[in-house]
Amino acid sequence: MAQNEMKRILVTGAVGQIGSELTMALREKYGADNVLATGRKTPPSKELLESGPFEYIDVADKASVEAVVDKYEIDTIYHMAAILSAVGEDKPWLCWSVNMDGLKNVLDIGVEKKLTRIFVPSSIAVWGPGAPLEMTPNETVLKPTTMYGVTKVAGELLADYYFKRFGLDCRGVRYPGIISHETLPGGGTTDYAVGIYYDAVIKGSYECFVREDTVLPMMYMPDAIKATLDLMEAPVENLKHHNDFNIAAMSFSVTELAGSIRKVMPEFTCTYKPDSRQAIADSWPNSIDDTAAREEWGWKPAFDLDAMTEDMLANLRRKHEAGLLV
Ligand code: SER
Repeated sequence: MAQNEMKRILVTGAVGQIGSELTMALREKYGADNVLATGRKTPPSKELLESGPFEYIDVADKASVEAVVDKYEIDTIYHMAAILSAVGEDKPWLCWSVNMDGLKNVLDIGVEKKLTRIFVPSSIAVWGPGAPLEMTPNETVLKPTTMYGVTKVAGELLADYYFKRFGLDCRGVRYPGIISHETLPGGGTTDYAVGIYYDAVIKGSYECFVREDTVLPMMYMPDAIKATLDLMEAPVENLKHHNDFNIAAMSFSVTELAGSIRKVMPEFTCTYKPDSRQAIADSWPNSIDDTAAREEWGWKPAFDLDAMTEDMLANLRRKHEAGLLV
């Protein structure tokens, strides 16, 4: 497809943390009417609802996805609907159904309706015991211990299989923990790195559910959006990988994160009360090697920890002053 040929885009999980901002970026780039936002239950924000089309679907129900693909003449899907790691441990079979049946439905529709391209996100949750903790390479042992991680590994392999076997152009990145100020994440392990900023602004303190020495790869939302848009525009002949690109931006401990907040808010305090999410965090790498993404489609992040902290706090303070944070 020519780079500027008209696209008709469906975003699943558009009410979620990444989906909500991705939808707005896609509407900006490809025209609001060409980007259908969808969710399962959670009502969309006013911004999402008023800026373009919205429909309720359930990705685990193939007919509901098919209906909107037909109705809106969709040719490209950003498949963001998923159950994250912590909820996935509470409800493993819901996680399997949404993440696996949902993905297979979307891929099958992609083949049956000859869609142009599908974005299939993966995660740092693909790793577990046996993978190096530092600068984890693209190609290494994938033995996750969470149901979420199991579905992400299987999802990468399934999407790669559809590419090889059926010629369906699917692509995906392994997102690190994503930090943002528009929509809260729901039910993940890296949620502390978002919650800490909200509580810093609202209360001046945060009780963290992982230990202070916990280090995970993280990324600010504008970089995550850029990675998603850039990979989807990359010429297919440049790609040697398809659904399993490592992308890195920054890695920090919670102590370093709290220290970065203290540079702006010296009175900020953080206490620690690790829960079951600690074991999940401990099973994931500290930092990742994203050479393949840099080489194959020119990936490069813009935000480091302090730049992200300044932007997060400025935006959340503005919202707080406007009475928009509770
Ligand atoms: N942010 C996700 C989670 O914590 C990882 O992809 O579950």
